[in-house]
Amino acid sequence: MDMSFPPDTNLLNHRLRLPNGNVLRNRLAKSSMSETLATYDNHPTRKLVDLYRRWAASGIGLMFTGNVMIDRRALGEPGNVVIEDQADLPILRQWAEAATSQGAALWVQLNHPGKQSPKGLNAGNLSASAIPFREDMSAYFETPREATAGEILDIIQRFGRSAAICKQAGFSGVQIHGAHGYLVSQFLSPHHNHRTDEWGGSPEKRRRFLMAVYAEIRKQVGPDFPVGIKLNSADFQRGGFTEEESMATIVELADAGIDLIEISGGTYEAPAMNGSLQQPQKTSTVAREAYFLEFAEKVRAKVTVPLMVTGGFRTAEGMNAALRSGALDLVGVARLLAIDPDAPAALLRGRDSTQRVRPITTGIKPVDRMGLMEVLWYTRQLKRIAEGGNPRPNESGLMAFLKSLLNTGWGTYRTKRMRA
Ligand SMILES: Cc1cc2nc3c(=O)[nH]c(=O)nc-3n(C[C@H](O)[C@H](O)[C@H](O)COP(=O)(O)O)c2cc1C
Repeated sequence: MDMSFPPDTNLLNHRLRLPNGNVLRNRLAKSSMSETLATYDNHPTRKLVDLYRRWAASGIGLMFTGNVMIDRRALGEPGNVVIEDQADLPILRQWAEAATSQGAALWVQLNHPGKQSPKGLNAGNLSASAIPFREDMSAYFETPREATAGEILDIIQRFGRSAAICKQAGFSGVQIHGAHGYLVSQFLSPHHNHRTDEWGGSPEKRRRFLMAVYAEIRKQVGPDFPVGIKLNSADFQRGGFTEEESMATIVELADAGIDLIEISGGTYEAPAMNGSLQQPQKTSTVAREAYFLEFAEKVRAKVTVPLMVTGGFRTAEGMNAALRSGALDLVGVARLLAIDPDAPAALLRGRDSTQRVRPITTGIKPVDRMGLMEVLWYTRQLKRIAEGGNPRPNESGLMAFLKSLLNTGWGTYRTKRMRA
């Protein structure tokens, strides 16, 4: 369906002023997609600069980088960018400028993977507590050890330091990755956090790690630099972070002065973020496209902090309907921008992309059950754009999977060799 709206009725074109005075040129945001386009010793490359230059040229208002690690010893994937010192400031500056020189804001998503890191990539993984993975995933992910009090304080400092370097490099803001089952989300979750010290044991204590990370970042970047968070509406995992705890976390973050909250959901063990837990017959959600809108409506009733919702948005009509409902301020889009980097130009004119996000499968059932397979397919499309080409939206899931498997194995080997 090709819906056209006159520019003034297309709400995507409206500017957004953040409470700290920063202005976004429109309501369309690119959500994080891990690019794995760094070197195997985790330095940013020209490919990242070129990828974000292409996206910025599409007219999009705000972009989040793929997750950037705050500790070289704790990678989530081979080829992630790590920011822990000023060594890469020149290329970081080029990366930021590729977006900002074209009027788009670019925020860095800062992350620590905790236990969600493939076996063998790091020397060992830590988490809030030593909880094993779901049985069918334990071949790929090891049981982490419990972080010591000293390690927790070190990680909090590192989030602050990485954020300060991002500010120095000219990025427009930072986002704490508090969603999708990574370390911040592990601390928030009663399933992953069984601690009985000041970092666990009650919802307030489970939130303490996140609040300390936010406070440290704020201390190091000052009051005017935008700091946001991507947070789960819920983990969709038995015994996990619930909507009730998510709401209480949002209220506390809003009181503490956070600039933007992006709502998502799920973990590696329950990948709700890409809609794979969505029941196809839930027509209300299909009609409204986005997966986490109902929760956003409840949040909107409680706080005034700007809200972004990501997951499922596909059409100009769906995005406008969500904005019109008032439940959110920014529409987050990820996969569509990997198969059509120019989609924002169409959407901002009230038209739909000519590409359609479709389920990516290999035909191998155990592989298709893991959300990670889809991520590998999309990462290949990002690489093509970064190298100056175009994505191949019709690429076979199976071929992409086999090639990515080889690359990931090779990447893990190279990462370990470079460390040795
Ligand atoms: C290749 C790929 C990599 C992703 N990497 C990240 C990431 O680094 N950080 C993050 O918060 N979400 C990540 N996501 C999730 C997306 O930001 C988004 O929440 C999800 O794809 C749903 O939005 P969509 O329906 O518009 O694709 C990734 C998704 C894909 C497809």
